[in-house]
Amino acid sequence: MAEHESLEYGKADFVLLDNVSMEEFMTNLKLRFEKGRIYTYIGEVVVSVNPYRAMNIYGRDIVEQYKGRELYERPPHLFAIADAAYKAMKRRNKDTCIVISGESGAGKTEASKYIMQYIAAITNPNQRAEVERVKNMLLKSNCVLEAFGNAKTNRNDNSSRFGKYMDINFDFKGDPIGGHISNYLLEKSRVIFQQEGERSFHSYYQLLRGAPDSLLRSLHIKKDPTAYNYIKVGGQIKSSINDGADFKAVADAMKVIGFTGDEIQTVYKILATILHLGNLTFGVDGDVTLIENTKLVSVIRELLSTKEENVEKALLYRTVATGRDVIEKQHTAQEASYGRDALAKAMYERLFCWIVGRINDIIEVKNYDARVHGKNTVIGVLDIYGFEIFQNNSFEQFCINYCNEKLQQLFIQLVLKQEQEEYQREGIPWKHIDYFNNQIIVDLVEQQHKGIFSVLDEACMNVGKVTDEVFLQGLNGKLAKHAHYTSRKLSPTDKSLEFDRDFRIRHYAGDVVYSVVGFIDKNKDTLFQDFKRLLYNSSNPVLKAMWPEGKLSITEVTKRPLTAATLFKNSMILLVENLACKEPYYVRCIKPNDVKSPLLFEQERCRHQVEYLGLLENVRVRRAGFAYRQTYPRFLQRYKMISEFTWPNHDLPSDKDAVKRLMQGCGFDHDVAYGKTKVFIRTPRTLFSLEEQRVEMVQRIVLFLQKVWRGTIARMRYRRMRAALVILRAYRRYKVKSYIREVNRRFKNVRSMKDYGKHVKWPTPPKVLRKFEEALRSIYNRWWAWTLIKGLSPEEALQVRAKVASLEALKGQRADLGLQRAWEGNYLVSMWDGNSADTAASFTLVSSELQRKDKFMRVLFSCNVRKINRFHKAEDRAVLITDRHLYKMDPLKQYKPMKSIPLYNVTGVSVSPGKDQLVVFHTKDSRDLVVCLQGMVPANESRIGELVGTLLSHFKSEKRKLQVNVVSPIQCSMSGRKCTVIVEPKINQSQPDFTKSRSGYILAVPGN
Ligand SMILES: Nc1ncnc2c1ncn2[C@@H]1O[C@H](COP(=O)(O)OP(=O)(O)O)[C@@H](O)[C@H]1O
Ligand SMILES: [Mg+2]
Repeated sequence: MAEHESLEYGKADFVLLDNVSMEEFMTNLKLRFEKGRIYTYIGEVVVSVNPYRAMNIYGRDIVEQYKGRELYERPPHLFAIADAAYKAMKRRNKDTCIVISGESGAGKTEASKYIMQYIAAITNPNQRAEVERVKNMLLKSNCVLEAFGNAKTNRNDNSSRFGKYMDINFDFKGDPIGGHISNYLLEKSRVIFQQEGERSFHSYYQLLRGAPDSLLRSLHIKKDPTAYNYIKVGGQIKSSINDGADFKAVADAMKVIGFTGDEIQTVYKILATILHLGNLTFGVDGDVTLIENTKLVSVIRELLSTKEENVEKALLYRTVATGRDVIEKQHTAQEASYGRDALAKAMYERLFCWIVGRINDIIEVKNYDARVHGKNTVIGVLDIYGFEIFQNNSFEQFCINYCNEKLQQLFIQLVLKQEQEEYQREGIPWKHIDYFNNQIIVDLVEQQHKGIFSVLDEACMNVGKVTDEVFLQGLNGKLAKHAHYTSRKLSPTDKSLEFDRDFRIRHYAGDVVYSVVGFIDKNKDTLFQDFKRLLYNSSNPVLKAMWPEGKLSITEVTKRPLTAATLFKNSMILLVENLACKEPYYVRCIKPNDVKSPLLFEQERCRHQVEYLGLLENVRVRRAGFAYRQTYPRFLQRYKMISEFTWPNHDLPSDKDAVKRLMQGCGFDHDVAYGKTKVFIRTPRTLFSLEEQRVEMVQRIVLFLQKVWRGTIARMRYRRMRAALVILRAYRRYKVKSYIREVNRRFKNVRSMKDYGKHVKWPTPPKVLRKFEEALRSIYNRWWAWTLIKGLSPEEALQVRAKVASLEALKGQRADLGLQRAWEGNYLVSMWDGNSADTAASFTLVSSELQRKDKFMRVLFSCNVRKINRFHKAEDRAVLITDRHLYKMDPLKQYKPMKSIPLYNVTGVSVSPGKDQLVVFHTKDSRDLVVCLQGMVPANESRIGELVGTLLSHFKSEKRKLQVNVVSPIQCSMSGRKCTVIVEPKINQSQPDFTKSRSGYILAVPGN
């Protein structure tokens, strides 16, 4: 159902074929292969065809395209499956596994690497160092495992010679936190022998071609692989593999993973030991078996850190315990060679398992507590050897093919059988689809007592001479009637089977003829105890630790070790159990040709694989079946937000009804079947669309929750603000009130105070009341002034007015306005200014005379003055200013009035800004009067302020204007002539006096 790819590339999902037939299947597969589309779905199974060329479809950009997407959103890809497995694990907290199957060279290992890469690329978005470290380990471990477990075969330059199942553990956030690798049945026969055109494990060639000379020298080996019997065949092969570079990469990887220097050295020593072992030859001298090239023994001794004689003895003798006696039995040359090969194989196998174990020690999840860190989930990736049919098939092929039968059985169980059974159980109408169930072949191999493994084990247990033929006879006896077993004895006409050597199994994947030669031996897998002790007693602790069973003394009765077949069977059963409890995802790999060609699509070859992988049945079941099923409650839990009937909770009688309602609402009813406990969805498109709607709704729900929460926060904040405001207001009111109260308190009794509260200190107002305080002060000041004025006599009132007028006119222009003293005004009337009683009396007399004559109401001012006369002479005079006239008088003649100026003639007065008492009265007729007040007591009293103020006040009361100038020099007119009066301080001047100057007059005042 994959979209986004046009039909010219064929159908992206085999489920979409018009007719499910082998022809159409093959046509589509071929078309897609030729168009460079190597992946095709069958529902959720990926069918992959090995492209045998670099494909530009695994980059970062492609990873991004698949990340977090649903399976059907993008063209088929391994990444989509990896993502689906990852999503299932994350969404549903389920352990998942990806099972990669296919024959050797079909692309399983490559696929598993791309899957790992993808998982590494999409996890750990926060770049946590610990997770990065784990990911790095997981990826690096692959490189080491391939060096020791892979080899070039005729089918595949990098063929895995072991089965691998890797668990990756994830924390609740979906980041990898560790892993575990299980390895299965290493093809150890390769250590001593390879077919024409094949090589031993990469590790040897890497060591010889990549190791520095110093290392090679210390191992006593030379660069040339053909010098070593065990790898000679492969040493002659030219290949594209760069062993030298790989050596360094592997050494680095081992270091990164955490192998110690000693460990790495031991690994090299073991490889070198095996190479040397292969070159050992045995001879016979009389009845003594001996080692022909004894020099090698001391090299081996050195590499194994043991005693030389021990090495030799272990190679030539075998210790046997009979009852209480321990005897040493010498090997024949043939037995010695057998023992040597067994040692080489066992050492290599042990080394490989030890490497896997070390990697596991390091990558295993540590310090994880599910209660603290949440559930730890797993994705398993199984990359195991595919079905093999060789020219000559032996015990290994038998095991490998049995393994594939087991996996096929699992596939059938999970995908075909279980599915159909589930439909029946759920009461979904279903037409049974036929498929070949290979359980019968699995049973043929592993059944207790009757199975081939049982027969083999029985044969091995027989005492006395046990041969492979005896085993074959046993098979023929027990399995004669089995439909999938035959041999020459059972079908004598079949010339393809050799008498007493071959048997044939009809595997689900095809017929395979096995030769029994070596079965017994390989099953017993004996390594003489002496070797185990030899290695255990090594002084190299790493090597010693690999051989713990060497600790047992010779006489200790040991249980017969489990046979290779039983061990393998047990490991397979465990593996299948492990896989069966996980949610499986499948990658089915197909090998398009035998010649590693990117162009060749061998029809027959591929058809055969499609057949034995059961892909057609897979399509049929898939088409007839349902892509997705889920129990009603869980389905609702996931999708209930899509429908108004189910969100947030439904009120229908059952979850089933609710799901029905939801599906009807979405218009998916036609694509859905309702089972007893589960809902079944036929096409992934529907599921996809449900997911889409869910995502959309979840966003809205999240928005809604955000909205509610934001509202709550805002309301909380508002309430707090309101409260603060209330507090603020109360506080302000309190401040204002207490201020007012305080003002009230302080000013309460001002009326009765002497100064009417002038001395009272104003309290500091709160900020808001500053304006108010100003106003209040001004009200108070007015009140205070009014209260003062209210109590004044008319005389006093006049004086106050005069002072105010003086202040207004002169303030800031003249110092000492005399405001602080009482203004007497009429200074000549009494004995002010040193007047005698007589002079005062004469003045009073004159004054009364004038009052009578001129009818004035009031004397404004009187004082002695110095005056300029018409002839520019200064003379002593007195002035009397009434409300009508200004009189000049002669003090020397009892104040005889001399001349008067009507006040209405006076237009202004000028005074100087100095301390002098100069006054110029300006008149309308330009006959200004220039005088200087004098004779004051005290002498320095200034009366200018008083004079100006009194005049101004009087003029104001008559609503007339009086011009007051404060200037120096003063401009004036004397009898119509303009002149200036300048004030000049003079030393030695005792009294102020006038003198003539060019432009007028100078008032000389005492100066210093
Ligand atoms: N996806 C792929 N892209 C390119 N080449 C591939 C791909 N898959 C496999 N191959 C080629 O096929 C060879 C064998 O693949 P491999 O995965 O080792 O097979 P298997 O593990 O099934 O035996 C690889 O070495 C590589 O050259
Ligand atoms: Mg492989």
